[in-house]
Amino acid sequence: MAQGFRSGFWMRRKIVLSDLRLSLRKNAVLGLVGPNGAGKTTLIHLLTGIKRPISGEVLLEGKNVLDPRVRGGIGYLPERPHFYEFLTGRAFLMTLGAVSRMDRESLASRVPLLLERVGLKQAADRELRTYSKGMLQRIGIAQAILHSPSFVVLDEPMSGLDPRGRTELKELIRELAREGRTLVMSSHVLEDVDELCDQVALIQGGRLEHLTEDDERWREREEHSEFEVWAGGARYSSRGGPELHQTLSGLIAGGSRITSVKQVRRGWEGSIHVD
Ligand SMILES: Nc1ncnc2c1ncn2[C@@H]1O[C@H](COP(=O)(O)OP(=O)(O)OP(=O)(O)O)[C@@H](O)[C@H]1O
Ligand SMILES: [Mg+2]
Repeated sequence: MAQGFRSGFWMRRKIVLSDLRLSLRKNAVLGLVGPNGAGKTTLIHLLTGIKRPISGEVLLEGKNVLDPRVRGGIGYLPERPHFYEFLTGRAFLMTLGAVSRMDRESLASRVPLLLERVGLKQAADRELRTYSKGMLQRIGIAQAILHSPSFVVLDEPMSGLDPRGRTELKELIRELAREGRTLVMSSHVLEDVDELCDQVALIQGGRLEHLTEDDERWREREEHSEFEVWAGGARYSSRGGPELHQTLSGLIAGGSRITSVKQVRRGWEGSIHVD
């Protein structure tokens, strides 16, 4: 995938991202790191369908992210969010929910919970113009997850948060992943990314320089997958990883002929392909 911008008198196209190929795992957190101007926000704009790549495509569970129906399943915290200053935190979330056609009842029960979750319960009925930077960041995070999106993209979510806010946000991000969501976040704080992310992509000079995977969590996911094994006319089910190994060696040792091994549930799945 590639992306560029036309600028200057001749409107020459400057390529800011090129040869980018990336697969995200479902249920995992991908961290984007890289120096200022590396292309993280540009990549996030492509992942959320805000910008169209000049070549390649972004697929979310096989569907193009530019499709409005697909975009409805994405939650997004921009790098520089825009707020309606004269709305209260609560009214802001209620308004956004109404715009994205959430039904009033579920909205009325969800908004207070969400405000509490991001630590804004006390400030819920204050106008956003009276919020501090960190409080605005928190309400921005709340709006990103308001409609329970399965894909959540956060552009520098930790920026402006105090130590307690960072700890709480990390816990929230972990919770979102545990709930089965896929997350992408950019950050300049390597410790945060290291602690939180299952995959880390280093973007430098518009290229993907490096992608790491957390072996431990990879193994955990493997163990959460389920297999169906047919041997000697009988069906056995087994988790992946060492349990599958044990099941198979037990059957073989018992003299059964294994006729098929099929993965019936994946602990993780490459859900987004960026080509
Ligand atoms: N609208 C635009 N027109 C022209 N160039 C742009 C535009 N938006 C971004 N760029 C350029 O694209 C490159 C990547 O910018 P991007 O905002 O994606 O970087 P970033 O990694 O998010 O940086 P930061 O860490 O500062 O947020 C930069 O060279 C930037 O100047
Ligand atoms: Mg940026």
